[in-house]
Amino acid sequence: MQHKPHKFGYSPCWGRVFYTLVTLGAKFFVVGLFTKAIEPVVFTSVAHYYALGQILRSRLLLDLARLLRKEMRVLGIETSCDETGVAIYDSDTGLLADALYSQVEVHADYGGVVPELASRDHVRKLLPMIRQILADTALQAGDIDGIAYTAGPGLIGALMVGGSVARSLGYAWGVPTLGVHHMEGHLLAPMLEDNPPQYPFIALLVSGGHTQLVSVKAIGEYEILGESLDDAAGEAFDKAAKMLDMDYPGGPRIAKLAEKGEAGRFRFPRPMCDRPGLDFSFSGLKTFTLNTVAKERGASVLPDEQTQADIAWAFQDAVVDTLMIKCRRAIKETGLKTLVIAGGVSANICLRERLEKALAKLDAKVFYARNAFCTDNGAMIAYAGCQRLMAGQHDDLTIRAVPRWPLDTLPPLQSNQSALASAIEE
Ligand code: KG4
Ligand code: ZN
Repeated sequence: MQHKPHKFGYSPCWGRVFYTLVTLGAKFFVVGLFTKAIEPVVFTSVAHYYALGQILRSRLLLDLARLLRKEMRVLGIETSCDETGVAIYDSDTGLLADALYSQVEVHADYGGVVPELASRDHVRKLLPMIRQILADTALQAGDIDGIAYTAGPGLIGALMVGGSVARSLGYAWGVPTLGVHHMEGHLLAPMLEDNPPQYPFIALLVSGGHTQLVSVKAIGEYEILGESLDDAAGEAFDKAAKMLDMDYPGGPRIAKLAEKGEAGRFRFPRPMCDRPGLDFSFSGLKTFTLNTVAKERGASVLPDEQTQADIAWAFQDAVVDTLMIKCRRAIKETGLKTLVIAGGVSANICLRERLEKALAKLDAKVFYARNAFCTDNGAMIAYAGCQRLMAGQHDDLTIRAVPRWPLDTLPPLQSNQSALASAIEE
């Protein structure tokens, strides 16, 4: 069902300009009535000074200037899984601030993310974090021109927390609000860096839930070239870590352990690399790791420390090699010279280095975000949302979350439909 947008929700500043004009008009009217009752001369001077004071005190001039320069300051909210992220992105000056709270300790005893605990913790943290980021940047609610939040894919309860808060604040502040696709956020995160990639490019999205190769013409113009048929790369790292009795998230832990590993003691398979195409599969690698650990541990619970490190090295080597082979293939097939890697696994140093080396031979360059913006964060959502909000997209008043949401269904920037609206039509 389509709802009418909020009356102040059409554009960031027009709503406030209109509101300011109405309130100023009402004040003039009251002052006019009062002063007119005294004397016409007093009326002119008092009313003029009052009017000038009101205009200077109001945000009218500031809003008009920003409106004419088409600038936006957007609050981004990320709550799709186990990280609460908030950030403020300004289209003129860039990222103003970002804050992140990780729930790792909340889930530590369970060996993975517990959805119900995740939702509750987002409820506890989100509003105080928004208050704090506004205080840190000395901004007030009235300085925010739009709100962007992760509407999916992710854990339904966790998404609903971010969606409810974002939608309610948008309504209260009279600014447009927009649901953002989490993976579009990841994909655009390298745009927050000093030397951002230029469109078109190939993106390798490697997170805990996704492994995809995407051809990116522009924002919202995505073609999936290949994806994992089973586990995601990050998920494979997490599962391999669990087999070695390491806590979640396993990716950074395997990477650290692999530093002490000996190259060449084990050789793990490179799944699906001997056939054409750009799809991935990591579940076989998971089974291979499980069997290797079982074989090496003998009578004890785990293999000895050096063997664990050697297994971690061989596992990481196989994942990185597989990703590299497919990226090289995608670059060769498309003729594009830019590869963006994004999502939690793009923080992996071995992956970055191997891709840079392999692609340099093809005259292609690799781009990625700083580590904090590879994993989940609010900055990427603020940035992605800002681009779409500036293009005039925003949602209606309904609070929605989309747990499963194909990236290639997103509308281009020129569309007059928001991403969430097109997801509902699917
Ligand atoms: O993007 P992200 O924070 O969350 C999702 O959207 O899923 O990615 C989290 C994933 C986890 O599976 C984690 O183990 C993996 O990224 N990861 C890494 C590294 N840092 C995080 N994997 C390999 N090496 C890393 N350095
Ligand atoms: Zn993510």
